[in-house]
Amino acid sequence: MDKFTYQNPTSIHFGQGQIASINQAIPKDKKVLVIYGGGSIKSNGVYDQVTAALDGFNWGEFSGVEPNPQYDTLMKAVELVKTEGYDYLLAVGGGSVVDGTKFVAAAACYQGEDPWNILLKQEPVTKVVPLGCVLTLPATGSESNGGSVVSRGKDKLFFGSPLVKPAFAVLDPQTTLSLSPRQVANGVVDAFVHTMEQYLTYPVNAKVQDRFAEGLLHTLIEEGPKALATPDDLAVRANIMWSATQALNGLIGVGVPADWTTHMIGHELTGNYGIDHARTLSIVLPAVMKVRRKEKEAKLLQYAERIFGLTTGTADQRIDAAIEKTIAFFKQMGVPTTLTDVDLGEKDIDVLIESLKKHGMIALSEHHDITPEISRKILMTAF
Ligand code: NZQ
Ligand code: ZN
Repeated sequence: MDKFTYQNPTSIHFGQGQIASINQAIPKDKKVLVIYGGGSIKSNGVYDQVTAALDGFNWGEFSGVEPNPQYDTLMKAVELVKTEGYDYLLAVGGGSVVDGTKFVAAAACYQGEDPWNILLKQEPVTKVVPLGCVLTLPATGSESNGGSVVSRGKDKLFFGSPLVKPAFAVLDPQTTLSLSPRQVANGVVDAFVHTMEQYLTYPVNAKVQDRFAEGLLHTLIEEGPKALATPDDLAVRANIMWSATQALNGLIGVGVPADWTTHMIGHELTGNYGIDHARTLSIVLPAVMKVRRKEKEAKLLQYAERIFGLTTGTADQRIDAAIEKTIAFFKQMGVPTTLTDVDLGEKDIDVLIESLKKHGMIALSEHHDITPEISRKILMTAF
């Protein structure tokens, strides 16, 4: 296991009715800007609970943050923060709203030439407006991590800073009951792939991280299909919500290698073709497993045994079976598993490879050895 320093400063308020706790979580002297998306919070009662909890606060709102949050939209919120003097941000929504709010938090305090450089040039974030969140879609882990993904045209870029980790996150599984089956499935698959990308690399004798990751994978495989079959089951939603947070709050990733190849190729699929984030991952991950089976052999065999109980046959047979079972799980969740499923053809590969190059994604994986040519092979394997 590699050395590491771990701190997660986000207070979690988990369970039914916990939206009320934001009244105590935000300092009373703050002027709060509530940031949300396209309006789901207005129809599922979340907005009303938030406004009740903000009773006594000086607050305003900014709506319209879109899925895969757009830079131009977020800059309007930055203007509002500056002109109206907001000094606390409350994100209410899914990962896009939380990510977008993180960018607003950083861009509102940005002193340089162009806030897009926070993403484009990875300029360090040194000061932010403090933020908290009410999460309504378990998927990204954004509620308690320092990551944010923002899009501008076809460029979908990431920045990360410990300063944008939310001070608190309300996780009330009840708020997730209004999700469409598509968004439920997307969330489960996103959390599953986050776990896989921190697990499926090479062994470093990190037993806690491995078994914790395996626990998350088991939970998502067990509960994901239940969330589709019995959508009113709150206990199922609770287990999914807590799994998604744990999958990307930093804990399973400490001291172990990570391979974010699937996410990086996936971001290009979203940027160029608008495919939902999780649906890019369910297409790319199986191809990464196939193309990188030698590099990942030891962990693939561990995954085969501990997740699917595959202990007989040759190593190749067990790996093949584990990949097939992963694809079967994705299919059970109703997400695409090939580029053909989303109507892309070989002609689209060049576009994706050019985007990867443009964004500097030319040395991916836990070994930094996935060149654009290997990414091409992965994409060709994804048909
Ligand atoms: O905008 P509203 O009206 O709220 O509707 C949203 C949106 O249309 C809807 N929704 C959210 N909660 C709902 C609901 N509808 C009904 N009931 C509810 N309770 O769901 C739609 C999708 O929301 P979005 O926030 O886009 O989904 P998700 O949480 O999957 O976030 C995806 C974004 O997060 C980024 C992705 O790239 C993508 O941009 N990621 C962020 C990460 C991070 N910060 O660490 C890591 C991830 O890998 C990911 O890259
Ligand atoms: Zn993701």
